[in-house]
Amino acid sequence: MKDLLLNLQFLFFGGKGGVGKTTCAMSCAIWAAEHGRNTLIISTDPAHSLGDSLGINLKLGELTPIEEIQKLTALEIDPQKKITELKDIADMNPIKEMGMGGMMGEMVQGMFEGMIGDNEQENPLNPPGIDETLAFGKVLEYIETNHEFDLIIFDTAPTGHTLRLLGLPETLSSWIGRILKLRLRLGKFFGKFKSLFGGENTQSDNSLEVLERMNDSILRAREDLTDSKKNSFVIVMIPEEMAIAETGRLLNELIRYKIPNSFIIVNQCYEDESELCAFCKSRREMQKKNLQKITKIFKDKLGKEIIIAPLYKDEIRKIESLKEFGKHLIH
Ligand SMILES: Nc1ncnc2c1ncn2[C@@H]1O[C@H](COP(=O)(O)OP(=O)(O)O)[C@@H](O)[C@H]1O
Ligand SMILES: [Mg+2]
Repeated sequence: MKDLLLNLQFLFFGGKGGVGKTTCAMSCAIWAAEHGRNTLIISTDPAHSLGDSLGINLKLGELTPIEEIQKLTALEIDPQKKITELKDIADMNPIKEMGMGGMMGEMVQGMFEGMIGDNEQENPLNPPGIDETLAFGKVLEYIETNHEFDLIIFDTAPTGHTLRLLGLPETLSSWIGRILKLRLRLGKFFGKFKSLFGGENTQSDNSLEVLERMNDSILRAREDLTDSKKNSFVIVMIPEEMAIAETGRLLNELIRYKIPNSFIIVNQCYEDESELCAFCKSRREMQKKNLQKITKIFKDKLGKEIIIAPLYKDEIRKIESLKEFGKHLIH
């Protein structure tokens, strides 16, 4: 982990809900900041918990420098705000954009739909998964614009949401591609149509350009996210049967999207102590069996590095505990 924290530009922490993603992401962010890297931790989980983890009130959507840790800044993205920022994109409709209303607009809309065909399940003009799009918009913003941070750690939402987020470059890109294509086809057609009726062919809006630029930045972000010198996805799991299956699925998706991954943190492991009660002993036995499985599948077969993190008797909150917990993760 040291290597990743000292050298990469981006790190994603992901896994099932409640396994310890935020705790691990935060501990690592603190460590990196204390080792000289200007670090930003961003929560893309709609149910944010960075502030809770730190025991600090964070203002939604605002970069908050963490006083106790000099080079650490936290951000919980504000879905509401992103919605207004992205509204223009969400509202983008080639017909509206071309300034066509009334009967002509309706006619065009009808033809337009005819061109698309009705085998599309969703309205092809709507951007995919607004929740993930908003989160991805933020990811994009920090990956593709100049900023002062050396390392950005993404504390992600439970698996399903995050996978859709990681798949978004493709989905979004194809959505934009579709819009661009339709725009071009309609543009050509209406150029002729308008001149036929003596109308002016004024295409003064720059929406094509905006879409093309957006597409470029999505594709660049895609390159960054798939570059193992820049990015890695750290999986957090617990030593339970169900988590093994879920981690397998997550790994498959990471492979599919070519997102680098080398570390799996197995969190909340019972330590080998003699004076465990019957209940804890039984849980430890269950965990031991699953840990063997985890080692066999993920380490021996797939070559992943497994980090075992102990179950603390208390919650892990506030900077001191997070730092202490970080010692188990970073070596
Ligand atoms: N190893 C651990 N030992 C004890 N408590 C833990 C451990 N890891 C996480 N927790 C606690 O479990 C809860 C959920 O952790 P969190 O990091 O918020 O999970 P996630 O982000 O995956 O939903 C928090 O209250 C956290 O303090
Ligand atoms: Mg969390």
